[in-house]
Amino acid sequence: MLTLVGVLGAMVAFAVFIGILAYLIGGFAHKDRPLEAREIAALEQRIAPIGEVRTSDQPPMETVDAGASAAPAEPRSGSEVVQQVCAACHSAGVLGAPKIGSKEDWQPRLAQGFDTLMDHTVNGIRTMPPKGGNPSLTEDELKAALTEMLQQSSLSP
Ligand code: HEC
Repeated sequence: MLTLVGVLGAMVAFAVFIGILAYLIGGFAHKDRPLEAREIAALEQRIAPIGEVRTSDQPPMETVDAGASAAPAEPRSGSEVVQQVCAACHSAGVLGAPKIGSKEDWQPRLAQGFDTLMDHTVNGIRTMPPKGGNPSLTEDELKAALTEMLQQSSLSP
């Protein structure tokens, strides 16, 4: 009898001891401690807004530098523009585009007048996108490209 009580007592004492130990370990692990500078920086980066409102007209310094180094690009030649932009549709006749090299395709188009073709090149017409879908092209570059396509189709603008 005495043994049974002793064993039970030992078990209860052990359970209490484990409980206290768990409380102490848990308490220490969760203790608040001040954040380190490195952690604060990481935290601020995580919660930073994706954009900022600028109230000045002055371009930010990085933009100024980028603008200076990206000096006005050389105008692209007609054949460059045709190769890089127009040929995507006009070499195979995608969506019914008049094919480069096909006089039959281009003759009725040119009959509208070069200026009208230029207007449709700049502003687009039906499935032909404005500026061939490349808004960075200047009017001069487009004119050179159109002239090039017409010449390659044995027509003179
Ligand atoms: C995304 C395809 C696509 C690209 C890129 C493209 N074109 Fe076209 N283009 C077309 C299609 C399609 C037509 C025929 C539109 C129609 O008549 O319905 C067309 C028609 C034209 C016409 C005839 C318009 C008319 O009035 O008959 C001209 C001129 C022309 N394109 C010039 C250009 C030039 C110059 C470029 C390059 C800067 C270019 N296109 C790039 C699809 C394209």
